[in-house]
Amino acid sequence: MAWEYSEKTKQLFMDAVHGKPGTHLGEIENPDGLGEHGSIACGDAMRFTFRVDRHPTDPTEDVITEARYLTFGCTSAIAASEALCAIIEQGHFTPIQALKVTNQNIVDFLEGLPSQKIHCSVMGAEALEAAVFNWAQLRGVDLQKLGVDIHAHEQEEGRIVCKCFSLTEPYLRRKIQELNLRTIPEITNAVKAGGACMSCHHAPGGLQDLLDDIWGKNLSQLPILNGRGMAPTPGLAANAKSEELDTGMSPYQFSKKIEDVLEHHVRPLLKKDGGDVEIIDIKGTLIYCRFKGACDGCASAAQTLKLLVEDPLKEHVDERIRVIQV
Ligand code: FES
Repeated sequence: MAWEYSEKTKQLFMDAVHGKPGTHLGEIENPDGLGEHGSIACGDAMRFTFRVDRHPTDPTEDVITEARYLTFGCTSAIAASEALCAIIEQGHFTPIQALKVTNQNIVDFLEGLPSQKIHCSVMGAEALEAAVFNWAQLRGVDLQKLGVDIHAHEQEEGRIVCKCFSLTEPYLRRKIQELNLRTIPEITNAVKAGGACMSCHHAPGGLQDLLDDIWGKNLSQLPILNGRGMAPTPGLAANAKSEELDTGMSPYQFSKKIEDVLEHHVRPLLKKDGGDVEIIDIKGTLIYCRFKGACDGCASAAQTLKLLVEDPLKEHVDERIRVIQV
């Protein structure tokens, strides 16, 4: 599926990639705050840096004057990062005031984002938060004393719920409530949890259990009825949700769409260098494939896989796709 981006999102993206004056792609040397979020292995990552005008006596009065980002991601990741920097610079915020910038502010600045891309705005807000925590450490500001919730140790100490994205229960509980997430696809869209192997969807203590616990069973997803008007077994319900809600396509349509994109967007490029790719298996949004010809055994196969195979599949089929070489 092609994403419907707002004109503002497209413009910010184009301005950034063309290095138009006033855009923010880059990194501040010796920054006053540095934060990172996401990981390249998971498909999106952002490094956010800012500089402040230092207050001579009270660091809490420092004012952010400059913000920059490096991002590894798609159109919306770049546009969301641009939006974040613009909001921060235009606001003349202190770092603590900047913590009030939410992912919704970023979405509003972009004049909307496709629901499947909301995680790009969340990534920006998380990287900003990490950068403010870094600034506080560097400037000796005790955020906890000032009543700022720094979510200490929630990633280090919590039970991992989604192994594919290394996301813990305390983090997911906080995000489900902060962002008012009501279904597993909403969680995936916002923070990516559940967007790869899907085994955390209905496992005991998994995403559905968290939703049920936070919102109450009746307010989370309604049971899916089978053709005879009866609730299916939990396992069948999980599969049905995974197949129908998560991709919006049947497994057959999904695999056909993937094959179409490979044929029209991927193979022509690989064939120019005497290579090819074939699908070995598809499990949820994990695509297992094998390189053939000149690509087989190529030293840059991992990069090729990411740039020439995975990215087009994310762009044209489903943003949560991950390609695994076998
Ligand atoms: S464990 Fe959550 S998507 Fe794989």
